[in-house]
Amino acid sequence: STPGPKSGCHVLRFLSWWCCLPVPSEQLFVEMADVMAAEGWRDAGYEFVCIDDCWMAPTRDEHGRLQADPKRFPSGIRKLADYVHSRGLKLGIYSDVGNKTCAGFPGSYNHYDLDAQTFASWGVDLLKFDGCNSDTLELLAEGYRRMSLALNNTGRSIVYSCEWPFYLRPVQQPNYTEIKQYCNHWRNFFDVYDSWSSIKSILDWTALHQDSIVKIAGPGGWNDPDMLVIGNFGLSWDQAVTQMAMWAVMAAPLFMSNDLRHISPEAKWLLQNKEVIAINQDPLGKQGYQITKDKNFELWERPLSGRAYAVAVLNQQEIGGPQNFTFPLTFLGNGLACNPACAVQQVLPASRDWGVYSWVSSLSVEVNPTGTVLLKVGAL
Ligand SMILES: *[C@@H]1O[C@H](CO)[C@@H](O)[C@H](O)[C@H]1NC(C)=O
Ligand SMILES: *[C@@H]1O[C@H](CO)[C@@H](O)[C@H](O)[C@H]1NC(C)=O
Ligand SMILES: *[C@@H]1O[C@H](CO)[C@@H](O)[C@H](O)[C@H]1NC(C)=O
Ligand SMILES: *[C@@H]1O[C@H](CO)[C@@H](O)[C@H](O)[C@H]1NC(C)=O
Repeated sequence: STPGPKSGCHVLRFLSWWCCLPVPSEQLFVEMADVMAAEGWRDAGYEFVCIDDCWMAPTRDEHGRLQADPKRFPSGIRKLADYVHSRGLKLGIYSDVGNKTCAGFPGSYNHYDLDAQTFASWGVDLLKFDGCNSDTLELLAEGYRRMSLALNNTGRSIVYSCEWPFYLRPVQQPNYTEIKQYCNHWRNFFDVYDSWSSIKSILDWTALHQDSIVKIAGPGGWNDPDMLVIGNFGLSWDQAVTQMAMWAVMAAPLFMSNDLRHISPEAKWLLQNKEVIAINQDPLGKQGYQITKDKNFELWERPLSGRAYAVAVLNQQEIGGPQNFTFPLTFLGNGLACNPACAVQQVLPASRDWGVYSWVSSLSVEVNPTGTVLLKVGAL
């Protein structure tokens, strides 16, 4: 029979935290778990603390098992998982389908079952499985399938995060039907950086490929446009609003890559914004898409439960001041979003009630350069 959906496939969406510091250490993750529990992050829905590459010792132990670097993780991953769980959070870990991780640590090739069992025995709840150092696409695909089955066989629910289509794409069109059978979310495009050009390139790529990637997203399997970099140094306020709004429209898993111990109240307000997170986590589970692009403006919509729509107006212009974008409400939801009338609620950059509009009217939305206005439109 077909290999069943792997562990974690009932989880609708994941929110988590990842720190991209080059040298991760136990203490960092302990402190982050404390902050996540104490300062509203967990309650907002960010429930995973995720370790990325570089946590391992350079060699496996005498039984062939992966082991944590003894200097940086002196208590071991099992203890760290216990600690994270005691804070009401979950622990994510990282490995690679090939012979080595991207940073050159031991990869899981030839050890898929053993590594899955090791992770499960430690109490790990999520695995980010990278795609570096695989000699062929056949080995890559086989490795992603086998690790999915190995995780399932442990009996522990472990969210499975893949980079499979990203590594395939330069050579062949990924089969997303198959990828969704094995993975809970998957990266399609390059790593995010703390810069507007990176955010823009991810949005442009997504719009360009929306015909092949939007329809496959749904409960159990999501496109992953990579992490939120809000709260760092590279994005202006308007650009941070754009990332949060557009990641909600794209139904992205929300992983933050920032330092929650040192974050501005504005960034915290944006990342913990309940209305945006509700759009991101909407139970209908449909990914949004770009409806039209008009000079520097982009209009996106995401169908939501209750016949509502999230609507984003993004201004790509990088010079001058705010500009208006005006469009007929018949553009939305194939003409049905506002039929015969609708209530319009602004979610970002600030919460505001816009009142009721009739089907034949237009909306005029003023948007700052590189900013986004996110609206929720509900038919009456
Ligand atoms: C493993 O896959 C089966 C079949 O799809 C599923 O019913 C089960 O919940 C999975 N087990 C875990 C631990 O995810
Ligand atoms: C790992 O290395 C071995 C030995 O060189 C090789 O046979 C195997 O194909 C490699 N695995 C992958 C996934 O590239
Ligand atoms: C894609 O994968 C699915 C599920 O494994 C399979 O049924 C389908 O034939 C594949 N499509 C192509 C074009 O290979
Ligand atoms: C945008 O439109 C509103 C309402 O029509 C108007 O008050 C505002 O001045 C316009 N803004 C710009 C930048 O033209």
